[in-house]
Amino acid sequence: MSNQPVDQSRRTWVTMACAAGGVGGVATVVPFVSTFQPSERAKAAGAAVEADISTLKPGEMMTVEWRGKPVWIIKRSPEQLALLGKHDNELADPKSERKLEMTPEYARNEHRSIKPDVMVAVGICTHLGCSPSSKFTAGPQASLPDDWPGGFLCPCHGSTFDLAGRVFKNKPAPDNLEVPPHMYLSESKLLIGEDKKA
Ligand code: FES
Repeated sequence: MSNQPVDQSRRTWVTMACAAGGVGGVATVVPFVSTFQPSERAKAAGAAVEADISTLKPGEMMTVEWRGKPVWIIKRSPEQLALLGKHDNELADPKSERKLEMTPEYARNEHRSIKPDVMVAVGICTHLGCSPSSKFTAGPQASLPDDWPGGFLCPCHGSTFDLAGRVFKNKPAPDNLEVPPHMYLSESKLLIGEDKKA
């Protein structure tokens, strides 16, 4: 991998993740989990990546790399799911209508995902490309509002996203996090980067 050209977007999110204590600093995060290993050239070209989510428990998140970008897979707990519908008035684009290309048709629903409990999103802030940090615990805490429902905080300029990757109002990030093309190969296997069966 070291002799591959460095993708600037990848450099940005890796750097920021480290600077912020990052995704690796959270006990529930398993960075770069992948059971499928396409060649480096295929990955750079955008080959789909397979992810085994069989061990992911409610409230946990894992990260896979696709096209040099972190893709988060979040298993939302029933409590987290219940909170999702309660802050639409605080979101900039609660129904993900602003840029339809950021949310595939099958994810344009109240939980922004194929299965209600499993969220898939590209973990790159839509402002300037930093990687937001997970802040899954609901309630008052530093840098977040008292009615925080759980989600993500971008360490660069303070944009916040809920657990469906939807951006809160009056923040620098203009759009919700991207939901990449994806599909289920089985109950516990996801394919990131493709959403049509061959
Ligand atoms: S890059 Fe995330 S708020 Fe600026």
